[in-house]
Amino acid sequence: MNELTKSKNLFWHPSLVTKKDRWEGNGHKSCVLWFTGLSGSGKSTLANAVDFELYKIGCQSYVLDGDNVRHGLNRDLGFLPEDRRENIRRVGEVAKLFVDSGIIVSTAFISPFKQDRQFVRTLFSDGEFIEIFVDCPLEICEKRDPKGLYKWARNGEIANFTGIDAPFERPNNPDIHIDSSKKSIENAVHTIIHHLKERKIIK
Ligand code: PPS
Repeated sequence: MNELTKSKNLFWHPSLVTKKDRWEGNGHKSCVLWFTGLSGSGKSTLANAVDFELYKIGCQSYVLDGDNVRHGLNRDLGFLPEDRRENIRRVGEVAKLFVDSGIIVSTAFISPFKQDRQFVRTLFSDGEFIEIFVDCPLEICEKRDPKGLYKWARNGEIANFTGIDAPFERPNNPDIHIDSSKKSIENAVHTIIHHLKERKIIK
């Protein structure tokens, strides 16, 4: 980052339409549903299933997915710890813009480091950041291997693969814990929608 981008001569320009105005217009509040878990744990599938359910009941929602965001905004980043940290920082900032715009945004990123997830939480007001741990044993993720990446990682064709030769730090106290090796997608969607209702984010 150069000195210009860190300049003191930057001023926040407030929006004429507030987040609350947008909530009223939408008939629900906004938040980020932060899905974290190993590759193959079911983050994207579950995030998209929740998004579809929200769409069906008339909510404004969107999914930011690791693979997709890495094709564009974050195409300059790899999988070293500092790249993952920057990946998560940028996605956190984008998610914050979505929440400001009144949308319920689901993010599906491995986000393997506690510190990075904790940093993102600090970007949001109380109750706006909902961490969802999509928990699935490595052996099962590896057996599913939907993209064949675990096989490559075991063969040494991919380095720094999460769960193989790069760490995944399990959340200690997620807002929602889904055991995706035992729970059906329908059941998991129900749990998350119920949580949103309990927190009065949706009606
Ligand atoms: S991270 O750790 O949050 O920055 O990763 P993320 O942006 O979610 O990207 C994960 C997807 O990238 C593919 N992929 C890898 N994952 C982990 N480690 C390595 N080395 C790697 N290389 C490529 C993989 O398809 C991940 O997608 P998911 O949906 O998690 O399976």
